Amino acid sequence: MKKFLVIGNPIKHSLSPRLHNYWLQKNNIQGIYHKKLIQEQEIESLFKSNSDICGINVTVPFKKSVINYCNKLSGLALKTQSINTISFQKREIVGDNTDIYGFEQSLKITKFNGTNKTALILGAGGVVPSIVIGLNNLGVKNIIITNRTRNKSEILAKRFNLEVIDWGSIVNFDIVINCTSVGLNENDSLNLDFSNITNKIFYDTIYNSKTRFLIDAKNSGNQIIDGKTMFLYQAQKSFEIWHGIQPEVNERLNSIFYD
Ligand code: ATR
Repeated sequence: MKKFLVIGNPIKHSLSPRLHNYWLQKNNIQGIYHKKLIQEQEIESLFKSNSDICGINVTVPFKKSVINYCNKLSGLALKTQSINTISFQKREIVGDNTDIYGFEQSLKITKFNGTNKTALILGAGGVVPSIVIGLNNLGVKNIIITNRTRNKSEILAKRFNLEVIDWGSIVNFDIVINCTSVGLNENDSLNLDFSNITNKIFYDTIYNSKTRFLIDAKNSGNQIIDGKTMFLYQAQKSFEIWHGIQPEVNERLNSIFYD
């Protein structure tokens, strides 16, 4: 029986086991996928344990630190320094990034065309490099970043050639993407004023709840995209890397998100 894991801290709310186990069954693959709460210092022994683990998904806060335990990185993992998918091959532990694919697909299915569009990124956390590369791949050349702690956005701006603005400044954009952790708790609010903005795209990378950011955006007449689709497509790509099969993403998977 092939074994798969998602590791992170916290990990209790991860929906990856539900999704991957559903796909394993659907595709008649003898395998099982669990979640595992770990501490940073446990990563090395987990990776070297010679167990029957075939693949690991990595979530917050280990997407960068797992790089140290891989023997090989994909080009995208190298570029983002962010790994969410690990394959245990005969001689190698390979790190990959499927968040970029997840983000790109979630916009492609809405027929988004990035040519001549301006994107505003809120936050400077670990997901930002994946979002930036995804936007570039979709043709978005003009990307503006803002973060509560300005110097973190400046570091990313240098690395990826972005424009920086102060937290709280108003700027014109076609799409705004919440890459902060604000919204993880139900009543969290970003305290940014988007109340005059209408007919734009508001995207949240958070998938576990309907965030205030999206509720307000919808009420003001904007198109909203939540993190569920990105989550589904990053998982689809991980599954494909491990099993060589592209599992189906369809409406029925919505039940994954609800008990
Ligand atoms: P990760 O790298 O794991 O995604 P992170 O580095 O802690 O997480 O990033 C979280 C992001 O959410 C940061 O951009 C953080 O802003 P700071 O760099 O100023 O800490 C942002 N964030 C968290 N709480 C916030 C809040 N209440 N208001 C605005 N931004 C917030």
